[in-house]
Amino acid sequence: MGRGAVLRLVLDKRILLIIGGGIAAYKSLFLIRVLAKRGIASRVILTKGGTEFVTPLSAGALSGDKVYSDLWDLTDEAEMGHIELSRSADLMVVAPATADIMAKAAHGIANDLATTTLLATDKRVLYAPAMNVRMWEAEATQRNAAQLKKDGALFIGPDAGAMACGEFGEGRMSEPETIADAIEAALAGDTTLDGLNGSKPLRGKKALITAGPTREPIDPVRYLSNHSSGKQGYAIASAIASLGADVTLVSGPVSIMPPANVTLVKVETACEMLKACQAALPSDIFVSVAAVADWRPSSSANKKIKKDGKKVPPLALEENPDILKTLCDSKKRPKLVIGFAAETNDVIKHASAKRLRKGCDWIVANDVSGKGPGGDVMGGDHNSMIVVTDTETESWPRLTKSDAARKLALKISDYFT
Ligand code: CTP
Repeated sequence: MGRGAVLRLVLDKRILLIIGGGIAAYKSLFLIRVLAKRGIASRVILTKGGTEFVTPLSAGALSGDKVYSDLWDLTDEAEMGHIELSRSADLMVVAPATADIMAKAAHGIANDLATTTLLATDKRVLYAPAMNVRMWEAEATQRNAAQLKKDGALFIGPDAGAMACGEFGEGRMSEPETIADAIEAALAGDTTLDGLNGSKPLRGKKALITAGPTREPIDPVRYLSNHSSGKQGYAIASAIASLGADVTLVSGPVSIMPPANVTLVKVETACEMLKACQAALPSDIFVSVAAVADWRPSSSANKKIKKDGKKVPPLALEENPDILKTLCDSKKRPKLVIGFAAETNDVIKHASAKRLRKGCDWIVANDVSGKGPGGDVMGGDHNSMIVVTDTETESWPRLTKSDAARKLALKISDYFT
């Protein structure tokens, strides 16, 4: 589906957002803002527990709508009954979804406004669980989550990471941008949503992803680099991790937040990136998204080079290692290696040749011939990928980088199943 079509489907949509009682509730306020920027309105139900963490005033100010809470009254019910409320939205979202709400919903218990609405709705429900790792792993919670999925609910997260309670593990609510991506995909009826259903087809697999640019120093204050933002590589790392893989993301300098569900290794130069990648082997999957600088200054001054007013200093360059090719040729070559190719002309022809030259299994080609530096792909939020394998060439429509990442992650999981 083209981005235009996705946008038309998503614009003017409304979600009914149930904010449960958990420390992650503050992230749901961010979620309302992120969604508003994407043209999706939120109407909020705050559970009694939710009001302990965020106020109806802040949720109302951000959503620009009346906030319904479990402390409802007859006036509320006269204005909009709970049945109507549950049907006034295109999608119901529970974030944070506590163990308590999930347990009640799984058993059809309807003893407050949030759970009554969940029982009465004829719309799909997306849960973003957030709780202590032991509560999430408890048999009862896992049973309830499985039941809700069986009943048709979608799940995003929880992510693994450090938790507010001081423990570490799966239980953190997904980041607002990630939940917003899932909401957008659900609203657009995106088929890649299958991958959000909580199944983990890549569990037990290790994946290595490179992302961002590299920086090659000229002196302590100057460097050679490029326009890569890291957005596509980060989205791919997150999408592969959400399918259950153990992901190492080796990243050049970028200014975006790392996904919570990956191990991040920060590097600056191409040589450092190669070392970090070799240290992360063995791996089942390698996706080489980084825009590695092809050359580096032959020498880098350890003091700032000063102007002498006479001659311009020479800039001699030498070639950087080709990380993708080095890993393809290595004894520890990952089973599935995917390279990227930024091309301005004869995209498929150059990409197919590059696949063979580098020795990778698939090449994802991007047309970067658009206006501006790096076309509209480098640094932008969208991508039109062409995936070239040994047997086929698939052209995907223009998608958000997260949707494109999810589509690629699902293709990877199909390869392994
Ligand atoms: N790549 C790499 N190490 C390099 C250069 C590129 O790992 N030193 C990887 C990129 O991550 C990408 C693929 O190789 O997956 C293709 O990168 P690209 O810059 O398009 O290819 P080049 O080899 O630089 O070829 P050309 O400049 O001729 O297009």
